[in-house]
Amino acid sequence: MCGIVGYIGGEEAAPILLRGLQKLEYRGYDSAGIAVLGEAGLKVCKSKGRLAALEEKIALENASALPGAARGTLSLEGTMGLGHTRWATHGEPSDVNSHPHTDVSGKIAVVHNGIIENHAKLRAWLKDHGVAFRSETDTEVIAHLIDFHYNGDLLRAVMETIQRLEGSYALGIICENEPDRIIAVRRESPLVAGAAAGSSFIASDVPALLEHTRDVYYLDDREIAVLFRDRIEFYNDEGQPVLKETARVSWDAAEAEKGGYEHFMLKEIHEQPRALVDTLRPRIRNEESTDGSAPFRSINLEEIGFDSSWAGAGRVVIAACGTAWHAGVVGKYAFEHYVRIPVEVDVASEFRYRNPVLDPANPGGDIFIIISQSGETADTLAAMRMAKKKGARIVAITNVVGSTLAREADLVMYTWAGPEIAVASTKAFTTQLMCLYLMAVRLGFLRGTLDGEASAAAIEAMEKIPQAAEKILSEKEKIQRFASRQFNKTKVFYMGRLFDYAVSMESALKLKEVSYIHSEAFAAGELKHGPIALVDQHTLVTAICTQSRLFDKMDSNIKEIKARGGTAAVITYEDVTAFDETADEIFRIPRTDESLSPLLSVIPSQLYAYYCSVLRGLDPDRPRNLAKSVTVE
Ligand code: F6R
Repeated sequence: MCGIVGYIGGEEAAPILLRGLQKLEYRGYDSAGIAVLGEAGLKVCKSKGRLAALEEKIALENASALPGAARGTLSLEGTMGLGHTRWATHGEPSDVNSHPHTDVSGKIAVVHNGIIENHAKLRAWLKDHGVAFRSETDTEVIAHLIDFHYNGDLLRAVMETIQRLEGSYALGIICENEPDRIIAVRRESPLVAGAAAGSSFIASDVPALLEHTRDVYYLDDREIAVLFRDRIEFYNDEGQPVLKETARVSWDAAEAEKGGYEHFMLKEIHEQPRALVDTLRPRIRNEESTDGSAPFRSINLEEIGFDSSWAGAGRVVIAACGTAWHAGVVGKYAFEHYVRIPVEVDVASEFRYRNPVLDPANPGGDIFIIISQSGETADTLAAMRMAKKKGARIVAITNVVGSTLAREADLVMYTWAGPEIAVASTKAFTTQLMCLYLMAVRLGFLRGTLDGEASAAAIEAMEKIPQAAEKILSEKEKIQRFASRQFNKTKVFYMGRLFDYAVSMESALKLKEVSYIHSEAFAAGELKHGPIALVDQHTLVTAICTQSRLFDKMDSNIKEIKARGGTAAVITYEDVTAFDETADEIFRIPRTDESLSPLLSVIPSQLYAYYCSVLRGLDPDRPRNLAKSVTVE
């Protein structure tokens, strides 16, 4: 995944592009570059490494220009341009592989997010036509193809070029001969456009635009935007004009800033109580009883279209990737518990290449729940499209309004988490869980597996979660202290049973992502079937213990760890004494309905991962080799 920005207006473009890229650095950060078009023509500057390396390079180039140089002679002067922050797919991170890429004559510049699948064929064809390539990227073919088709009309050249591209792309294109416009186009990679007085912008994601406008246009697949200084025109890929409406972004630039926290990850962990309230509250209502008894609390999902017509489903199928898949695993247990309905859950990359049995002719059909923070993950989108083709009814759980997932699903349930910038997902996970619980309890009520009283009790328990999360956060120093004693342990396991197994998987993923510590999760019952061979005095095992009927089993597992010299930590409720004698350390969470425990039990693990990352001198917001949303396979 990469980030692209574009600006055309009346001000110097370079600082605006660099600020936009800062907001997108979470999307990729192994190299960056900008192209600016001004009186001196098209100028490109790019650099391997973080954005700061590019900024330094630009500052150096400007400093080396002649003192008092006239306008137009400084490098990178101009009031329009493109920027890119890269996460390498084709070709290693290097100056030359960084974007923007240009055609042979250097008059056309292109930035690209996505993958051109037929790039090898196109490269060979262009070489046969005398083109000498400079980089190893798939993107460079686009610049040369546009040049090949260009005869004075950039829009037409772009339209002819995209006919020849297979794969995914969001593109920004400028041409020296047409200094009044930027062309942008997307297919399966996100792109938003926005306008402010006398200027127009494109970006891969909204935070890059918020400084300028909160009214944005989400481009649809194969749509083309032509950005002028005073307007934006939209076309389909056949060149017919398209009328588009702006969407108002409900969060502001401040929400996409660190707000006093050292890292976005810590800020976002702390935002969970509010994010959970925002996700839950609008969906709860007071309902009058029909028999004259007291009003009761119920879940209202009719607004999003989840009405009684969904109640006859024969099965729930869930697909997602990474953390969102872990949310789906919790969802499986929740649907089984509240709805007593068969549930299948799979990672989207497996699901899409299986031959899954989805049968709309089954009594009631399948509810297909697809979960994605970004709403743009390539495998997740492919899984959804396949399920749709097979006739399943699709519910999307996503955090990004207007994302591809949101637009293609039959019904969307938003996680109102606000922008999640840190690469490691935290508040998106817990709000995804909240959405799944809301849906499960509602479906249970609609199908009669939960009566009004049981549903109201579940809602009451859900309403207590944000405050309980606040309490865990207020005790974070204990986790910080534990991390400062344990962060050198490089063999870390999480184990649990049922809901706790799902949280164990998420905990291990969080730790490995941001601290690079090798951590794995296993279902506690599996300990003897293999993992125990790895336990020695260098091992830390955290047991997540929130299912009281299994406390004895968990305690035996902990004893087995201790007997082999391992260190055992436990995450459990504040009133539980079952592990007092065995565990080396106990992290306590407020008591809750045991089926809702993942909403709380994951928080200590998120904090532990964060502190280990910081203690190991790493940047938890931007772990190596990872990108925030994986828009390519
Ligand atoms: C982990 C993480 C990833 C994502 C996964 C899916 O912290 O962030 O595992 O959960 O890449 O991304 P989305 O939810 O955007 O589809």
